Amino acid sequence: MCGIVGYIGRQDAKDILLHGLEMLEYRGYDSAGIYVMDDKNVGHLFKEKGRIAALREKVDHNVPAKTGIGHTRWATHGVPSIENAHPHQSTSGRFSIVHNGVIENYKAVRDAFLTDSMLHSDTDTEIIVQLIAWYAEEEGLDTIDAFKKAIVALKGSYALALIDNEKPDVIFAAKNKSPLLLGTGDGFNVICSDAMAMIKETNQFIELMDGEIATLTVDDIKIETLAGDVIIRTPYTALLDLNDLSKGTYPHYMIKEIDEQPAVIRKIVQNYQNDNGELEIDAAILEEMTASDRIYIVACGTSYNAGWVGKQIIENLTNIPTEVHISSEFGYNMPLLTEKPFFIFLSQSGETADSRQVLVKINALGHPSLTLTNAPGSTLSREAKYTLLLHAGPEIAVASTKAYTAQIAVLAILGELAGRRKGFALDLDIAHELGIAATAIESIIDEKEVFEQLSVTHLSTSRNAFYIGRSIDYYVVMEAALKLKEVSYVQTEGFAAGELKHGTIALIEEGTPVISIITDPTTAGHTRGNAQEVISRGAHSMIISLDGLDQPEDAYVLPKVHHLLTPLVSVVPTQLIAYYTSLHRGNDVDKPRNLAKSVTVE
Ligand code: F6R
Repeated sequence: MCGIVGYIGRQDAKDILLHGLEMLEYRGYDSAGIYVMDDKNVGHLFKEKGRIAALREKVDHNVPAKTGIGHTRWATHGVPSIENAHPHQSTSGRFSIVHNGVIENYKAVRDAFLTDSMLHSDTDTEIIVQLIAWYAEEEGLDTIDAFKKAIVALKGSYALALIDNEKPDVIFAAKNKSPLLLGTGDGFNVICSDAMAMIKETNQFIELMDGEIATLTVDDIKIETLAGDVIIRTPYTALLDLNDLSKGTYPHYMIKEIDEQPAVIRKIVQNYQNDNGELEIDAAILEEMTASDRIYIVACGTSYNAGWVGKQIIENLTNIPTEVHISSEFGYNMPLLTEKPFFIFLSQSGETADSRQVLVKINALGHPSLTLTNAPGSTLSREAKYTLLLHAGPEIAVASTKAYTAQIAVLAILGELAGRRKGFALDLDIAHELGIAATAIESIIDEKEVFEQLSVTHLSTSRNAFYIGRSIDYYVVMEAALKLKEVSYVQTEGFAAGELKHGTIALIEEGTPVISIITDPTTAGHTRGNAQEVISRGAHSMIISLDGLDQPEDAYVLPKVHHLLTPLVSVVPTQLIAYYTSLHRGNDVDKPRNLAKSVTVE
C-alpha cells in the first residue's frame, strides 16, 4: 500500500504534491509527508500523523518549492506516527526518500550495514536511505551508483523516489513489484503510484518496470537498467476523466459509486458489443478458456466474493468446473492443478500483491491467465496473458461496490460467450438480461430511504449482525457481511442459512439483526424456515427476497431478474445498509479505519 508522488518543474511543488497525495489517500491514510527543495536549494521536510488535510495544515505554504517528493502511508513496519511517516532521511540529512512496498530483508540489511544509532524510526524504509547515504558518503559513490548498489541489496517490493540535496535538480526513482509511473509535461516531470494522482498535471505517462532506475529533471526523463542500459519508452495517454474523480454533489464516494451501478452495467454491455450490437470478446480468450478442463478464479476480498458468483455463472453456462480461491492462500498452499487449467484473476485495482504473487507463479508454470480489472495498464493486467476491463470508472471509496457488480456483469458476458463457443444452445440473451438488472438496480436505489431507516432502527447501535442465504444467495451474503463490517465496524457474519443451526445459532440473542437474502425458489422455503428459527430465539429478522417468491408481508421485494444475475440486485440493499449504518454510527464512510483500497503488500 502507501502512495508516492514526486514533482520537478517550474510550478509550486507543494500544492501539486499535496493534491497528488489526496488523490492517493485511498492507498493509505495513517500519516503523510513531503520533502521539498526551495529556490535556494534548501530542503524542507513536513510530516504529520493522520490525513493529508492535517499535513496540509502543517506545511509552510510560504516556502517556494520547485522539486519535491511525498508519501501517504498505510502502516506496515511501525505504528502510525510522525517518526515513522515518510519521507525518511539519512542521518546527514543529505538524502530523503519515499517508499511504497515492503523490504523483506530489512533486518539483514540493517545488521550488515547499519548501527541502531543511525536509525530514527521503526520502518523498513529508513534502512534504504541510510544505505544509500552509506554508499555515497563512506564509499564515495556517485548518487546513481549508490542508489543502484543499495537497491541490489534489497529484497522485497518497492517504488522509491529519492532526492539528494547535493543534486537538487534531479529526482531518482526505482521500482520492484510496487507500481510506479513517470508523468511527463511541458517544463515538468512527475512520479506517482497511480496516474490519478497527477492527472491534473498531465495525461502522458511512462511505466517504470521492475529493475529499472529513472532520473527525472525538469526537461528530461532517463530510464536505465541496473546494468546501465538505457531504455527508450514512449508515453501512453491515461484515459482518466477528472470529473470521474470528484464526488460531485454526493456527500461520499461510496454512495456515488452505489448509484453509478446501473450506468456501469449499461456501459459494460456497450463496451463489449461490436458494431453489429453483438457481444464480443477476444476469440483467443474464449478459445483458451473453453479448451481448459478447469477454471481457477483467484482473488481477494470483495473480488473473491464476486468470484463465487462467477463460478455459478461460468459452470452454468459453460459446464467447465470452476474453483474459487483466496489469493493469499492459493499462492502458498496451491491445490493440485488439473492438466489444462485456465486462471481468472479478479482485481478492481489490478495491483493487489496477494493476487500478483499467484500470477507470478502461474506464469512460471506456463498456464494461461486472464485478469478482470478496472485499471488498464495495472500490474495484474500487464502480467496476465489476457485482460478484460470492468469499465466501472475510478472506484475511490475504500469499500468496493460498483467493481463487484461490474465483475459479475463482465463474468456473465464471458460465461455466455464461452458457453456459445462450446456449442451450447443457450436460451439466454445476457446483454438484454443485464439491461433488466440495471433497471432493477435503479428502482432499488430510488428507495434508498427504506435501507436508511432499517439501518437506523436495527443496526446503528447493534454490536453484531448476521446475513444468511443459500446457494447463490450465500455468495451474496458473504459480500454483504464484508461490506457491513468494513464500513460500520459491526461484527457481521455471512452464513450459509442451513449451517446456522450447526453451531452459530448460539450467538443469536434478543434483538440480534439477521438479514436473509432469498432469491432462489428451490431453497426459499428452507431459508424462510431458518429465519423463523432465529426469530424464535429473539433475533430481529429482516427478509430481502425476489419478486415472485412466496414471502412474508414485511419482506423487501427485489425486482425480478434472470436467476444467474440475482446477485446484481440483491447486493444493492446490502451496500446501502452498510453505507447508512456507517454514516449513522459516525464513521468515516469512504475511509474506514485500518484499511487501504489498494493492498500492495502480501
Ligand atoms: C472490500 C474491498 C477489498 C478488495 C480487496 C481486493 O470492499 O475493497 O476487500 O476487494 O482488497 O482488491 P482488488 O479487487 O483491487 O484486488
